[in-house]
Amino acid sequence: MAAGGRPPLALLLSLPLLVTLFSSPPASAADDTIAANSSLADDETLVSAGGVFELGFFTPAGSTARFLGIWYRGIAPQTVVWVANRDAPINGTTASLGLNATGSLVLADQSGRVFWSSAPSNANATGAPVAQLLDSGNFVLRDGGGAGAAVLWQSFDHPSDTLLPGMKLGWDLTTGLDRHLTTWRSPGDPSPGDYTFGIDIRGVPEGFIRYGGAAPVYRNGPWNGLQFSGEPEMEPNNSNFRFEFVANVSDVYYTFLVDGGGGGVVSRFVLNQSSVQRYVWPPGGQAWSLYWSLPRDQCDRYAQCGVFGVCDTSSGSPACGCVHGFTPASPRDWALRDSSAGCRRMTPLNCTGDGFLPLREVKLPDTTNATEDTTITVDQCRQRCLANCSCLAYSASSIKGGDSGCIIWSSLLIDIRHFAYGGEDLYVRLAASDLPSNGDGSRKKNIVVVVFVSLVVLVLFGFGGFFIWNKLFRNRGRFQSTQRFNSFDSSIPLTPVQDRKLEDESGQNKDLNVTLFDMATIAFSTNNFATWNKLGEGGFGAVYKGELEGGQTVAVKRLSKYSTQGLDEFKNEVMLIAKLQHVNLVRLLGCCIHGEERILVYEYMENKSLDNFIFDKGRSAQLNWSKRFEIILGIARGLLYLHQDSRYKVIHRDLKAGNILLDKDMNPKISDFGVARIFGDDTDSRTRKVVGTYGYMSPEYAMDGVFSVKSDVFSFGVLVLEVVSGRKNRGVYSSGEQASLLSQAWRLWREGSAVALLDEAVAGAGAYRGSEVWRCVQVALLCVQERPDDRPHMSEVFLALGNPGAVLPQPRHPGFCSDRGSTSTDGEWSSTCTVNDVTVTIVEGR
Ligand SMILES: *[C@@H]1O[C@H](CO)[C@@H](O)[C@H](O)[C@H]1NC(C)=O
Ligand SMILES: *[C@@H]1O[C@H](CO)[C@@H](O)[C@H](O)[C@H]1NC(C)=O
Ligand SMILES: *[C@@H]1O[C@H](CO)[C@@H](O)[C@H](O)[C@H]1NC(C)=O
Ligand SMILES: *[C@@H]1O[C@H](CO)[C@@H](O)[C@H](O)[C@H]1NC(C)=O
Ligand SMILES: *[C@@H]1O[C@H](CO)[C@@H](O)[C@H](O)[C@H]1NC(C)=O
Ligand SMILES: *[C@@H]1O[C@H](CO)[C@@H](O)[C@H](O)[C@H]1NC(C)=O
Ligand SMILES: *[C@@H]1O[C@H](CO)[C@@H](O)[C@H](O)[C@H]1NC(C)=O
Ligand SMILES: *[C@@H]1O[C@H](CO)[C@@H](O)[C@H](O)[C@H]1NC(C)=O
Ligand SMILES: *[C@@H]1O[C@H](CO)[C@@H](O)[C@H](O)[C@H]1NC(C)=O
Ligand SMILES: *[C@@H]1O[C@H](CO)[C@@H](O)[C@H](O)[C@H]1NC(C)=O
Repeated sequence: MAAGGRPPLALLLSLPLLVTLFSSPPASAADDTIAANSSLADDETLVSAGGVFELGFFTPAGSTARFLGIWYRGIAPQTVVWVANRDAPINGTTASLGLNATGSLVLADQSGRVFWSSAPSNANATGAPVAQLLDSGNFVLRDGGGAGAAVLWQSFDHPSDTLLPGMKLGWDLTTGLDRHLTTWRSPGDPSPGDYTFGIDIRGVPEGFIRYGGAAPVYRNGPWNGLQFSGEPEMEPNNSNFRFEFVANVSDVYYTFLVDGGGGGVVSRFVLNQSSVQRYVWPPGGQAWSLYWSLPRDQCDRYAQCGVFGVCDTSSGSPACGCVHGFTPASPRDWALRDSSAGCRRMTPLNCTGDGFLPLREVKLPDTTNATEDTTITVDQCRQRCLANCSCLAYSASSIKGGDSGCIIWSSLLIDIRHFAYGGEDLYVRLAASDLPSNGDGSRKKNIVVVVFVSLVVLVLFGFGGFFIWNKLFRNRGRFQSTQRFNSFDSSIPLTPVQDRKLEDESGQNKDLNVTLFDMATIAFSTNNFATWNKLGEGGFGAVYKGELEGGQTVAVKRLSKYSTQGLDEFKNEVMLIAKLQHVNLVRLLGCCIHGEERILVYEYMENKSLDNFIFDKGRSAQLNWSKRFEIILGIARGLLYLHQDSRYKVIHRDLKAGNILLDKDMNPKISDFGVARIFGDDTDSRTRKVVGTYGYMSPEYAMDGVFSVKSDVFSFGVLVLEVVSGRKNRGVYSSGEQASLLSQAWRLWREGSAVALLDEAVAGAGAYRGSEVWRCVQVALLCVQERPDDRPHMSEVFLALGNPGAVLPQPRHPGFCSDRGSTSTDGEWSSTCTVNDVTVTIVEGR
């Protein structure tokens, strides 16, 4: 919940900014109070003293009814954070909000029909009551003026769907007040919807999103002193924000606060149907941006894996496993991915001879029936659990300043998930014979269960843990860092030893600046690899946008997991790639190694990738012919450098429009180069795994995994045709009716009308040189010839493109690859690729 977590540092506005943002000229000296016996008519509003919030009547988009609500004054579109008469829409504009003599706010129309009132208040008015809208967004009814007067009622005690800074989510146990969020029924209907989000105070308190007031949809886990167990990315403290969770005899609540500094966060935390979302309004922004949201993935769904099940997205599919020592209760359903029946214990507990299995980095199971004792140590907790035969598991109750306290589970364990990063230790009671150290090899073989412990070690950093982190850490460079911050940020440069080694090889690496990033830094910068930060997906893994300390935007490439390389090999390859520096190559800034994770950090390109332009109807016109020609030349230059000029001949293997990035001036830069090397098979010209992209793969590579610089040349040819035509080469291998781009180009070429291939968006504009188009098509067709030997080298390509007088050979027919039918013996790829009508069945295209 809190999750929204960590303080949206980025969102802090300095006070001056706030003022300019919100206090648009004091349009009339709008008042912020309603005094006794006065009222607010439909066409009037209250504006808080600092001009931050406004209270009045509004009509939601798509509705005709009137509601009384509070919204941000300076933000359009109108963002309502509180609604009074959610259940009672007002017809017409005759209603008004009044404050009567006994101190109740009453929303009624002229006929006296009451739509809403603040009664009953928990105190009696003695002086003249006054209702005031504060800059916090709280609408407060006080007994008499003055800030010290008793509060009779406040809107913060009756949240709608939004939690603002300073609002409490949870319970006032002395009055029994339960403050929880209830979603709107729909965007145009503020009446209470089906989902609620609140704190359950049974057992150890936890937050729940529930459906229909009962069925849990999401659980954020008990507070562990720093964060909620299910939201390990939540950063409890930093210089501007504070997340607090209070649980004592009088109060149980969560709140987030803006700390000192005179700053203010324009951030709201909202329950939006089944999802909690934190939105922020960036300084100078035009719209709310989604900062964080829950649930993150399937493992966040309550009890996804049933009792004694463990959910883990990073272990691949299926996500569900059983705790070690347990086996699926219903193996058939389990096999069909229905894990709701959960797991059952294999060996009954015998009470005296049991032991504990630690589950590391998990979200603690549902604590609704658990008991907590914060006064004892974890060791005492263990003893207490051992001594009580009904104890099934225990954990520390606080991890703040080391583990301490005790939570004990005596009924079932449910809703456990494993995090890639963060999470806590849970000790599950098992019969001695089921404890891993006691099991012999043969026994282990019989255990069909996911051995969770080993997973913990092996599987680091799945989606799970990370969603939130990054987002929260945006722009942190603007602010003073906390200690924890600093430790995450520490970017350790590669050791001098390694530097020297590489320097020896190339002799000119003085300014080579490869940084070994900390996983936490990367996780934070990309919001735990949040889907909304994803820029794209390449043959070697997904790319995310990230923001480092200091505000530098980077592109973070998370390599797919089938690299077999060791640590040193990886580092060396990275150093090598980092040395490939060219104006037409994206610069590698550093890498990150964590467990099995291999991550590369690149400079960020403002205009994203070429495919966003050439294949997009709206944007393709932005690239006129001369720009396109420059882009083609730039790519050729970059590829030439990779193939020939750099000391380490690098074959790209996944050249495609999506891997050509454009900087702010639309200069092309090749990305993803050299990554193939990281997968450890670059020295071998035959690869087990075909990594590449359908439509760009040369026949010999697609069919046989044989690659060479000439496979890149083929891809380059396809790319050139795409840039010229604005068409994607999807159909290369598709059969029949729809001609592929290559066959179309080939046909037009033979008909002598190659220029007709030109993208209409460009051709229409008129300004292009037919000869250049012609030359590009010819060169491209030379590049996509079927036999690798027929294809030119990049040096020839570059010369041909840049030199109008060059005499070029006539291309032969392009390589359309045919299905070889049943695969022949390994190694032989004698079958000829024929023109047209083919299907590739054996390729793993991406
Ligand atoms: C409000 O009206 C009531 C009854 O008309 C009166 O007794 C009371 O003094 C008024 N209060 C104020 C603050 O004017
Ligand atoms: C609201 O007004 C509409 C049209 O004026 C009328 O049909 C409807 O019955 C009214 N609803 C209520 C609840 O008064
Ligand atoms: C003020 O409004 C409340 C709530 O509607 C009502 O209970 C109370 O009687 C009203 N007081 C007066 C003086 O009208
Ligand atoms: C308010 O007044 C009523 C009636 O006079 C009384 O019963 C009640 O105890 C009072 N409540 C408070 C909080 O003073
Ligand atoms: C956060 O900071 C506040 C004030 O500086 C301090 O009282 C509190 O203990 C800190 N919380 C954590 C979890 O460090
Ligand atoms: C509970 O905690 C809140 C917030 O820290 C505090 O205001 C309140 O006095 C505490 N209650 C008790 C009984 O300690
Ligand atoms: C709810 O979420 C949708 C998209 O998921 C978004 O468009 C909408 O603005 C959100 N509503 C609120 C109140 O933030
Ligand atoms: C429980 O296990 C211990 C150790 O394996 C054994 O000595 C003891 O007899 C067992 N007790 C029962 C009741 O099975
Ligand atoms: C808590 O106990 C109740 C009553 O025994 C049971 O129905 C429920 O399933 C338990 N829930 C959890 C999470 O242990
Ligand atoms: C054992 O734990 C159960 C459940 O927490 C509790 O009810 C019971 O009193 C405990 N027994 C002893 C001897 O502590």
